[in-house]
Amino acid sequence: MVLQKEKEEMLGVRVPTNLLCEYTSNPLGIDVVQPRFFWVCNHSERGQIQSAYQILVGSNWANLDTENGDEWDSGKVVSEESINISYAGNSLESGKTYFWKVRIWDKNGKVSTWSKVATFEMSLLKPDDWKAHWIGLSDKKNEKGPLFRKEFKLDKDIARARVYISGLGYYELRINGKRVGDYVLDPGRTDYSKRVLYVTYDITNFLKKGTNAVGIMLGNGWYNAQGVMGEVSYGLPKLILQINIDFVDNTTTRIISDSTWKIADGPIISNNVYLGESYDARLEKPGWDTPNYNDITWNDAKIVESPGGVMKAQMLQPIKVLRIIKPIKITNPKSGIYIYDMGQNMVGWVKLFVRGIRGTKITLKFAERLYDNGMINPKTAGSEFGITQTETYILKGKDIEVWQPRFTYHGFRYVEVTGFLGKPTLESIKGCVVHSAVEHIGEFTTSSALLNQIQRNILWTQLGNLHSVPTDCPHREKSGWLGDAQVTAEEAIYNFNMSRFYTKWLNDIMGAQDEETGDLPAIVPSKRVKKGGAPPAWGSAYILIPWYLYLYYGDERVLKQHYGGMSRWVDFLSNKAKDYILSYGLGDWCPPGYVSPKNTPVTLTSTGYYYYNVLIISQVAQILGKSDDAIKYSKLANCIKMAFNNKFFNENDNYYATGSQCSNAFPLFLGLVPEDRKMAVLKNLVRDIVEIHKSHLNTGIFGTKYMMEVLTNYGQVSIAYTIATQTTYPSWGYEISKGATTLWEVWDYGATRDGYPDRSRNHPMFGSISSWFYKTLAGINIDPAGPGWWLIIIKPHIVGDLDYVSASIKTIRGMVSSSWTRRDSSLVLNVILPVNSQARVSVPKMGLESVIVKESGRTIWKDGSYVEGVMGIVGGDKGEDYVTFDIGSGSYFFEMSGE
Ligand code: BGC
Repeated sequence: MVLQKEKEEMLGVRVPTNLLCEYTSNPLGIDVVQPRFFWVCNHSERGQIQSAYQILVGSNWANLDTENGDEWDSGKVVSEESINISYAGNSLESGKTYFWKVRIWDKNGKVSTWSKVATFEMSLLKPDDWKAHWIGLSDKKNEKGPLFRKEFKLDKDIARARVYISGLGYYELRINGKRVGDYVLDPGRTDYSKRVLYVTYDITNFLKKGTNAVGIMLGNGWYNAQGVMGEVSYGLPKLILQINIDFVDNTTTRIISDSTWKIADGPIISNNVYLGESYDARLEKPGWDTPNYNDITWNDAKIVESPGGVMKAQMLQPIKVLRIIKPIKITNPKSGIYIYDMGQNMVGWVKLFVRGIRGTKITLKFAERLYDNGMINPKTAGSEFGITQTETYILKGKDIEVWQPRFTYHGFRYVEVTGFLGKPTLESIKGCVVHSAVEHIGEFTTSSALLNQIQRNILWTQLGNLHSVPTDCPHREKSGWLGDAQVTAEEAIYNFNMSRFYTKWLNDIMGAQDEETGDLPAIVPSKRVKKGGAPPAWGSAYILIPWYLYLYYGDERVLKQHYGGMSRWVDFLSNKAKDYILSYGLGDWCPPGYVSPKNTPVTLTSTGYYYYNVLIISQVAQILGKSDDAIKYSKLANCIKMAFNNKFFNENDNYYATGSQCSNAFPLFLGLVPEDRKMAVLKNLVRDIVEIHKSHLNTGIFGTKYMMEVLTNYGQVSIAYTIATQTTYPSWGYEISKGATTLWEVWDYGATRDGYPDRSRNHPMFGSISSWFYKTLAGINIDPAGPGWWLIIIKPHIVGDLDYVSASIKTIRGMVSSSWTRRDSSLVLNVILPVNSQARVSVPKMGLESVIVKESGRTIWKDGSYVEGVMGIVGGDKGEDYVTFDIGSGSYFFEMSGE
């Protein structure tokens, strides 16, 4: 028997779900004083929208149970908004947990039941909340992973305990012999002189009445990455820790890092985030992280200077070991040398399982490729740049020993093992896949095995390059190059929940901006010796990524926070421009055959990006109500447009600059081409692709993204599809034909024509095609007029030999999905939209003159016109290639066939 309450929930408005605070489910330790709330609305009916909501925030669970929002009761707020609702109650206090719930009214005025209760907890909001000191080593140079420890007695029962910790470069925290949490390579990397991230853990269950021990191991991480890729050291590893304890009798106490802590060398004898780690298990100190350990020989820790940056709560997803993979093959190309094939170019490390004689030294080396003789070829993984990813482990000689590094990570498919006593087996190592734990929100599959493999390679590459910073590659540079990140940002956003990750990185960029000039570095964060400004296409990350956060998450706050910096960057470009032309930069990076752009002038790409930046900042100004700025920038955009066309447009023959693919595609994408010349420029673009390059791309990282979109938007989707599915050089399929399981940095298998040696096999920058998959093949697009997936455009393209495409995205508003299957000349299309969304759905006519469209069996289009009467569908329109309907939320099943 269904209970009355459940019945109500099944029919009509349903309880809101997926409650998030600052994009996080039940966050522990946030320092946003007006956090934002998000929820997903659910309804059994189609075409539903929320008409009002009420949020209650309470200081305890019991209050919320009795509907007492003692911290904030929003009251019934008439609003369709279910994302980015700012808290507006009593001021939130450091260290306190808050409880919240929400209910909504649908468009008919029916109210839902209250959601489940969610929580959020504040971290240490004021500098004064920190009573702890930074502590560190006393000697000048110490490569070893130092151990810190402290014992303390608690004489009462514990009600609640939190630890706030930052250990630079990286830390591992242990309490009473157990590791706290599963975060690795923590805290997230920042410029520590500007901001230091600290992490909050609930350690109530780690502590006990009586004697307790805290142990911390520190690694160099990015704090001391000196000597590699020009990185500069900030200093020696240091830590800060504060434990706040509430006892059941309502008293409190605090444990802090200070000079009473003890310090000693640990078993890690060297560690470098690029080069690897060496561990001597004979130097382990059993029991060091448990109470009653004898630390008489340990030294006193020293209070040291703070790294300088402000303490900020770590609010992006932590890095974790997220997948374990088994090697698929082991070979023995030379005596004593064993090579493992992990079957996948991966990022992380391996876990070693070994038994042997004390003192035996095992060496692991990591590479992406093999030489013909079966030995590893570490060149593409950085050895050409002086980075040989190497680990050593010295056995203590007891039973089976299991070891993995803590403070480094690698990019590799092959692992060379030497020093193994006897013969290692497939069970002797396991691959640990390590990256920031962003949620996988996008699914994309098709009937084409090739496209599926390209998508798979993109996902592996993208994830392998998210380590609290979006990196260019996981081995050679591990650097937050701005250009690589901006060109792949939409791809990442379609596939993963990037809101928290990019929010953090934008703060890094803000901190890195030159206050006087507005210039940006090309890499963020970085403390490299070489400063140098960002090439315009790279610095554009500071315009495009906030813009994408606005488009895809409806995040206006990020625009407000960064408007100053964003406009300073644009003004910086204006200062650099001469007669509206920008002639410096790196251009359309890595086109086929080259690393540096050879066929498209740098001036064209840089000026094009300058225009793009100005166009977006004028829209941002408009959104933020800064109309003077909006007008100023849109006038400036016009001036750039004129200058651009004067300089690059060949009016007689309708092409730009050199007539290369990027030269023509980029102005088309930007809307720079005079209206009456668009088709002629397009024709030249198509000729270059089809005739000169035999339907292959000839673009670098930027041209590739924009050309695919231009071809689609100008009716040339089948050419775009051919480019996407090529298997000969240069193409994604060509890489796969050579065994690629991740994306390459350059299209070339060997050295490039401008003489660069073997380049990386794990660079995400050509992965932009994945957003094209979603946008074009599945047809899922944001309408910029309705950010945060409020207004959506569904326009699939039925191309090539594709029989079906299926895509779904767990957006901030709920599930958006578009899947189609072709049956001869008919088509079925399933579309799912969340409550509070509307879409314009274009059902492809697949070349048919007149068509019938049914939705869930009922005719909605016939004899060239719209047939009214199906719930959720409010109108139809005839187009040459599509019939278009406006729909509200719900699940729709369209069938199109000839009349
Ligand atoms: C990096 C890139 C980056 C480029 C710019 C390379 O070494 O790996 O991906 O964008 O330099 O100069």
